[in-house]
Parts: sequence; C-alpha cells; structure tokens
Amino acid sequence: MDVLTDPARRFLAATAPEHTETQAEMADLADEWGFPIIGPEAGAVLRLLARLTDADRAFEFGSGFGYSATWFLRGGAGHVVCTEFDADEAERGVSFAAEGGYADRVTFEVGDAMETVDRYDGPFDVVLIDHQKERYADAYRAVLSKVRSGGVVVADNIARGPIDFGDLVDHFEAGEPLPDAAVDAQTRGVGEYVGTVRSDDAVETAVLPVGSGISVSTVVR
Ligand SMILES: C[S@@+](CC[C@H](N)C(=O)[O-])C[C@H]1O[C@@H](n2cnc3c(N)ncnc32)[C@H](O)[C@@H]1O
Repeated sequence: MDVLTDPARRFLAATAPEHTETQAEMADLADEWGFPIIGPEAGAVLRLLARLTDADRAFEFGSGFGYSATWFLRGGAGHVVCTEFDADEAERGVSFAAEGGYADRVTFEVGDAMETVDRYDGPFDVVLIDHQKERYADAYRAVLSKVRSGGVVVADNIARGPIDFGDLVDHFEAGEPLPDAAVDAQTRGVGEYVGTVRSDDAVETAVLPVGSGISVSTVVR
C-alpha cells in the first residue's frame, strides 16, 4: 500500500537531491540485484539528521553495500559502522568506498548486527535500523544506551516493504491486534517497533512518509 498520492510521491522524487557518481552506481546495482536501498528521499533525511546533530559517529543495522551510509557521510558524519550478514554485499561496499574516496570513514562488519553492536561502546549520534523487521525493537533496545542525548534513531520500512501496512493502520487506528509472529513476523516487528518508541519517554518520535516510511526518534533523556 502506498501512503502518498502519486503526485506527492513524484514531487518528492523530483525534488530529492541528486546522487553522487558513486551513489548512482550503487542505485544501478540495486536495480540490477532487485536490492532494497533507502533511496534519495529518505537518504536526504539521513543527510539532514547527520548535519543537524553535527554527527561524528553513526551505526547501521543492515547496510547492504553501504548506500544509506553515504547519506550520513554527505551530511558530514565522521564515520559510519556498517553491518551486513552478506559478505559479498559488504565486499561491494568496501569497493564502493575505495572508489568514492571515503574508505577511511566507513567500517564494514560482516556478521549479525545484533552481535556487532555489543562490541561498540558508542556514543553514536545517528543510527539507522534497516535489517530484519522482526528484530527492530531488539535493535533499538540494544543501541539506545549508546546513543547520546540529542542523537537520533531512524528505522526504515514503516509504511512499505515486506510488511502489510493495512494491518499497521488497523492496529494504531482501531486497536486491532498485530498479526501473529507465525503469520507475519515482519509486520508484527515493525508494529512492535513503532509501539515501543512511541511509548518510551527516553525518545520523541515522528513518523515521516518519505521513501518507504521512516520512524525518527530523538533521544531526550
Ligand atoms: C534493506 S537492506 C539494507 C539497505 C541499506 N540500509 C541501504 O539503504 O543502502 C537490509 C540488509 O540487512 C541485511 N541484514 C539483515 N539482517 C541482518 C543482521 N541481523 N545483521 C546484519 N545484516 C543483516 C541483509 O542482508 C540486507 O543486506
């Protein structure tokens, strides 16, 4: 389900920032592989958040070949920890970073992001959660104490992706139960994530209908 009308989506696409040369190559590879990158509209928000937080350190759960990380870097982030299960994707990310001249500003960690995050102390200024939807809330709980006050946690695919957005609308609008994990773990995971951040006094959250829908939480403790 699309949360924006066609003219609104076209307007956002038409007014999004241009890709850099490396980002354009990444977008071509994403098309070729059918790989879900965050895209320039949501990327522009990552760039904005990095700039507004004067970000030094960023962490990502689920980086693929590092497209989303390039938006944090374009916003001035000093360094991004990229995590990726798939060694081939991470290897492509390392090559893109070398070619794009930012190899010293990214670290690709191959393996489970949920284990990698335990090896980093933070503090992080900006975080992106974009891995397994059923683990979003766990990722948030694992990283929150490592995000500085005023820092930001973003989660992707709140409205589009491998989820049933109608079920989320029914849950938040009418109190319908989320789907059982055995039936649709990804929709349940995204619903639990949004419920978790909305009810946590440590953060203030806005859900933005850009890209695939992103949840943006600022740490206020
Ligand atoms: C939606 S894609 C990430 C896209 C990337 N953030 C971007 O916009 O360029 C999700 C990626 O997360 C990876 N992934 C899923 N679960 C993971 C985990 N637990 N640890 C590390 N990577 C994971 C998948 O292999 C996949 O490449």
